[in-house]
Amino acid sequence: MSRIEAPRDKDDAAHEAGAVTAASGTLVDRLLAGLPAESVLTDPDVTASYANDMASFCPAGAPAAVVLPRTVEEVQHVMRTATALRVPVVPQGARTGLSGAANASDGCIVLSLTRMDRILEINPVDRVAVVEPGVVNATLSRAVNEHGLYYPPDPSSWEMCTIGGNIGTASGGLCCVKYGVTAEYVLGLDVVLADGRLMSTGRRTAKGVAGYDLTRLFVGSEGSLGIVVRAVLALRPKPPEQLVLAAEFASATAACDAICRIMEGGHVPSLLELMDRTTVKAVNDLAHMGLPETTEALLLAAFDTADPAADLAAVGALCEAAGATQVVPADDAAESELLLQARRLSLTALEAVKGTTMIDDVCVPRSRLGDMLEGIERVAAKYDLTIGVCAHAGDGNTHPTVCFDAQDPDESRRARESFDEIMALGLELGGTITGEHGVGVLKKEWLAREIGPVGLEMQRAVKQAFDPLDILNPGKLF
Ligand code: LAC
Ligand code: ZN
Repeated sequence: MSRIEAPRDKDDAAHEAGAVTAASGTLVDRLLAGLPAESVLTDPDVTASYANDMASFCPAGAPAAVVLPRTVEEVQHVMRTATALRVPVVPQGARTGLSGAANASDGCIVLSLTRMDRILEINPVDRVAVVEPGVVNATLSRAVNEHGLYYPPDPSSWEMCTIGGNIGTASGGLCCVKYGVTAEYVLGLDVVLADGRLMSTGRRTAKGVAGYDLTRLFVGSEGSLGIVVRAVLALRPKPPEQLVLAAEFASATAACDAICRIMEGGHVPSLLELMDRTTVKAVNDLAHMGLPETTEALLLAAFDTADPAADLAAVGALCEAAGATQVVPADDAAESELLLQARRLSLTALEAVKGTTMIDDVCVPRSRLGDMLEGIERVAAKYDLTIGVCAHAGDGNTHPTVCFDAQDPDESRRARESFDEIMALGLELGGTITGEHGVGVLKKEWLAREIGPVGLEMQRAVKQAFDPLDILNPGKLF
């Protein structure tokens, strides 16, 4: 199947960059027919500020308008208008994404869901929360905590990112090694389709197998199939406060050996993260955390069990057996939280090293993590680059982060090439090009390489079924 093309005729030019101004008069008038004026932004300086998410090297166009709806009906109105005028729609949350999936295209409507930010229900018996897409992850986490409940997915950007964005990109986070990713917590969705119809998928029951699992299909679809306007999320009982241990290793290989021993030993840490020397130093430089800088690899392990100190002692012994030079359990929850903060700051800290970063997201089977980290060191040496690595090590999910000076064309070229070589290595090791950040525009060619021509054809067929005019976040994924 060839690439999906929206049907066009001579008057149907809203996709074309040159036609934006001519078309936007009509477009804005039609939008304003179903939206309050304050919900439609057209000042180019303002709309330009909605053009990008946080990914480097991803092209972005100039939106014709930014719309900030407050209701499902308003979203339906936007989609009906977009369908009538064949205008692309780019859905956005907090734009903390790292693949360009939320980047605007020329002449598009940016549909920012941030004002639909109500928590509609928290039900401790059903153990579900019902939310609008603009709810910030940390806001939901804190709200359910008050009911003795827990919403596990916790991307590093949890204080900013929205649940809608988490669903769009199938976000992971630090706790996935024990609790899994966003997909495991999305039970049901209300979705506004490309033509404005409202569809409910899934369930709010503990079980349910009625028909194809369209809910799961929408998780990670990067806004390309429909607009999520409401989500039913599974919750868990709130576990005890986790306690963290920091283990220092003289090599990444030794740290990976410890990870293998921990997993093979049947332990279930609530967090198992790695920061290499470059990352540790960057975090210290940014936030003066006092992390040990002599270590090549710092492993953070945590347990949120009834007796976390005992679990940490067992894991600490495995770290020592793997050659850890220091094993330091945190004294209490506050000290544990500081170590987590250090880990969450990694990307921001690495950005400060040379001004620009390209963060990769390759995930390999955890038994191949050592090979992956060695390979990244080889790539850094080959291209003469600084590549800091932080990783959800327990998931085999690495974030090799190329730190470079974007003003230096040669270094920028080397950054791009090393980024690609790291993805090739991930695929060779039986991994995936993206564990949790998504494809967006950053990894389009790589999606095709990972899933192959038949997989790609079926993905396009799904896209065609939901979005025959190709107006939903076109140009993303493939
Ligand atoms: C993290 C984000 C970048 O792990 O995924 O910090
Ligand atoms: Zn991550």
